[in-house]
Amino acid sequence: MTIRLLPPDLVNRIAAGEVVERPASAVKELVENALDAGATRIEVMLREGGRSLILVEDDGAGMTPGELELAVERHATSKLPDDDLVHIATLGFRGEALPSIGAVSRLTLASRKRGADSAWSLALEAGAKGRPQPAALAQGTRVEVRDLFFATPARLKFLKAPRTELGHAEEVVKRLAMAHPEVAFTLRDETRVLFRYPAPGGDLVGGPEAARLARLGAIMGRDFQENALALAAEREGIRLTGHVGLPTLNRATADQQFLFVNGRPVRDRLLQGAVRGAYQDFLARDRHPLVALFLDLPPEAVDVNVHPAKAEVRFRDSGLVRGLIVGAIRHALAEAGHRAATTVAGAALGAFRPETGWGGEPALAGAGRPSGFFQGNYGNWRGGAVPHRLAEAAAQAFAPLDGFDRPSARADAAPEAASPDAQRYPLGVARGQLHETYIVAQTADGIVIVDQHAAHERLVYERMKQALAETGVARQGLLIPEVVELEESAVARLVKRAPELAELGLVLEGFGPGAVVVREVPAMLGPTDVKGLVQDLADELAALGEALSLKERLEHVCGTMACHGSVRAGRRLTQPEMDALLRQMEATPHSGQCNHGRPTYVELKLADIERLFGRR
Ligand SMILES: Nc1ncnc2c1ncn2[C@@H]1O[C@H](COP(=O)(O)OP(=O)(O)O)[C@@H](O)[C@H]1O
Ligand SMILES: [Mg+2]
Repeated sequence: MTIRLLPPDLVNRIAAGEVVERPASAVKELVENALDAGATRIEVMLREGGRSLILVEDDGAGMTPGELELAVERHATSKLPDDDLVHIATLGFRGEALPSIGAVSRLTLASRKRGADSAWSLALEAGAKGRPQPAALAQGTRVEVRDLFFATPARLKFLKAPRTELGHAEEVVKRLAMAHPEVAFTLRDETRVLFRYPAPGGDLVGGPEAARLARLGAIMGRDFQENALALAAEREGIRLTGHVGLPTLNRATADQQFLFVNGRPVRDRLLQGAVRGAYQDFLARDRHPLVALFLDLPPEAVDVNVHPAKAEVRFRDSGLVRGLIVGAIRHALAEAGHRAATTVAGAALGAFRPETGWGGEPALAGAGRPSGFFQGNYGNWRGGAVPHRLAEAAAQAFAPLDGFDRPSARADAAPEAASPDAQRYPLGVARGQLHETYIVAQTADGIVIVDQHAAHERLVYERMKQALAETGVARQGLLIPEVVELEESAVARLVKRAPELAELGLVLEGFGPGAVVVREVPAMLGPTDVKGLVQDLADELAALGEALSLKERLEHVCGTMACHGSVRAGRRLTQPEMDALLRQMEATPHSGQCNHGRPTYVELKLADIERLFGRR
């Protein structure tokens, strides 16, 4: 066999295999080009999920006939003026998209350079380039891709049903639209408009942040818009902004987590892991928060040239980025204090509403209601035996809650005796206890129902966590150090993190290339499956670069102890005890949800109640 250089059209078709996996990837490249050209309005139209036609129109800078001819050449780009791959400020930079798409389809570009008095078009068919022709176009650029993959039948066979391909394209445009709220986007297929996101008017109140939140709301839903906390943090030139949902607004999958790096949508395990770490205290493992995070860093701090579709990036200092994200999210959640998602009240109202009119049973068992919502008893996660000493520690942590659980001389004081100011408290004044489980309080404009067990448990848990942070983790030496055999790479990862692990109470060292020896474990864990713990840790370190599962286990123990130390459902509380609980909740971070993201209280506004009774 002789070695030869491949002809350019074959090279382009091979490149297309990497860049253009399916119609959605072509859509992504074309919309990114429109954004790079400074468009303020981008319209996308697909026929048969993009298989027979992809049309992208923009009002950006446009191209001259000469530029049109160059644009479809391989490695021709206007975006690396200084041959500088380090300072990349555009979405594109490789000059590969147009020649790749043109190699496997019938591509027509029409464009009018800004300020020019005429438009030109250029056609490509399976890589064969035509000549520029005069065209009719008022402004910007219009790209038509017909019969994608007709020149590569093998790829064509892998396309899914039009509806599926359309769904992928929709995702792609939505992600780009989230990152660019200043640009108007429309997506349609042969029959209808799938979405239309307007650009904010010039007089918009609230500026860019309000515009972004409005765009996020249009895409992620009104629930998110109403129950999202704004973030803003900066460290060493890396800026993080965005919105994160309250823990009580959660999903079964992580597909409502959107991450952007310098305006580029990315899927990044590091970033996903950071989000998980930030919420781990407030959500069960199988529930996921909704977030939209935007990282802006100096181009030299991130390498965007590591993935063919640029869907992944590499950070120069990933630990710094992770820390910034975890810190900022935790801070925002702490600021939110006792807030629980408004969707909780919505779900409650839905459950209250009688479905069969008078005489019918209220639809308390209706579908769509959060499970366990009206149960004071969270038996299914009370879980795990707690070593005796730990139960004692829990009891201690529980005891000093001020004003709570102390015999009170005014136990029978009338609710009216509470100061009139109390109405101004966010959680109101306790008016009574129902079923020895729920505290009903009156606020300035509604009522609050508190699950006393869930609420108190959260208070104790927060207190224990604080103790953990302040006094460090107590260790327990193993009588016989345990040798755990692992893969060499896992051993290396663990040994590298040994000092940190020791801080968390786990003392280990290398034992030859394929094993570690564990000498001490966190006392809180009690009798532990050391091998399982170490193996899990090694896996987590590989996935996240942080000792998440050890912390998780510690906090799980905290949660279990807190649960045992808490005021169970079924205990009668006095008026001062109830008010003390409400005031503690207001003062305690994260008290709006229990350790598993279930709410500790619901609030019904008077307006909601009036609606229940048909007064509105
Ligand atoms: N919609 C557009 N408006 C203006 N110029 C465009 C547009 N699309 C492509 N171009 C020009 O064509 C060039 C090649 O595009 P492309 O193949 O996507 O490579 P890249 O985006 O990496 O530069 C771009 O650098 C740009 O100058
Ligand atoms: Mg491009």
